Amino acid sequence: EEETLVTVRDEEVEQLKKSLPKEFFMNKLELIKYQGFWYLADTDLFKSTLIFQRHFRARDSDLIVASFPKTGTTWLKSLLFSVVNRFNHPNNQSPLLTNHPHELVCRLENDIYGNAFDYPRPQHLSQLPSPRLFHTHLPYSTLPESIKFSGCRILYIARNPLDTLVSIMYFAMKPLKMLLGDDFQLPSIEDYFEEFCAGRIAHGPFFEHVVEYWKQSLEHPNKVLFLKYEDLKEDPTLELKRVAEFVGMPFSPGEESEGVIKELEEMCSINNLKGLEANKSGVINKIYDKKSYFRKGEVGDWTHYITPAMAERMNKLMEEKLKDTGLSF
Ligand code: A3P
Repeated sequence: EEETLVTVRDEEVEQLKKSLPKEFFMNKLELIKYQGFWYLADTDLFKSTLIFQRHFRARDSDLIVASFPKTGTTWLKSLLFSVVNRFNHPNNQSPLLTNHPHELVCRLENDIYGNAFDYPRPQHLSQLPSPRLFHTHLPYSTLPESIKFSGCRILYIARNPLDTLVSIMYFAMKPLKMLLGDDFQLPSIEDYFEEFCAGRIAHGPFFEHVVEYWKQSLEHPNKVLFLKYEDLKEDPTLELKRVAEFVGMPFSPGEESEGVIKELEEMCSINNLKGLEANKSGVINKIYDKKSYFRKGEVGDWTHYITPAMAERMNKLMEEKLKDTGLSF
């Protein structure tokens, strides 16, 4: 698994971009469609996605969190980290108390293969101890071959589309201003709704993203674990047990009776994480405020923003997109 210094030539990236379908989010932000999904055209992310896709070498022991943006990635990262590292330190010395979850479980196509030097560089990946924990927003079909065909495991988190949409709207405000300037009129919830339903959103279309991982989880249950934000809210203990079993570190009856699971839940609760100094100030990748990853953390917040008519439309779309999959939100 030698990791050499890797890149993709700029000319090749530009050539490829030119050949891909283009559309504009809100008539303003250029998106390109690569292998069926949208990427922001004017950032380095597309290039680093290609580098990651071509050069990453998975280990059988790797554990990879996968998600569509704003579906509970930060939560799953913190839960997975605390499950896997629970024998390495007492809870009151957990690295989660002093690091943002995104610093402990880095995003492959952006943090690691991008130019953000606060993260492990690609050529150092082979020196990381096992199990390595990573994250990706890429759809299943675009993942590097070695992730698909090695023994590494994927934990996908999904969330109902309307809460995801509201969460995106809040999260995107500042980055959109930075990208498009103060004069740019921020999209309303109605604008987001239209773009989201058209699938025209970075990493979208949403339902295709979810369904790809859902199908993999049915066909290869030991390879892909499919989790839902709503289930985690409803019964965190049960879901945490699923996570621990899936990664091969099940909770013992002793641990369970000693309250270990509850402690991890408490540690990773939004109220706890939100209150930590490590998550209150500072930025990630020069753009995203660390605190912006912790907003309300509720199920059904969409009812405050989305009209019944919009909800009805989304339900129709959802029925159509999830038809015969056995999946619902
Ligand atoms: P809201 O904007 O609805 O509050 P992601 O981590 O994928 O970016 O998703 C962010 C969403 O997850 C936000 O939703 C955020 O508040 C919520 N979230 C973050 N940490 C959480 C936690 N520990 N428990 C529950 N929800 C959490």
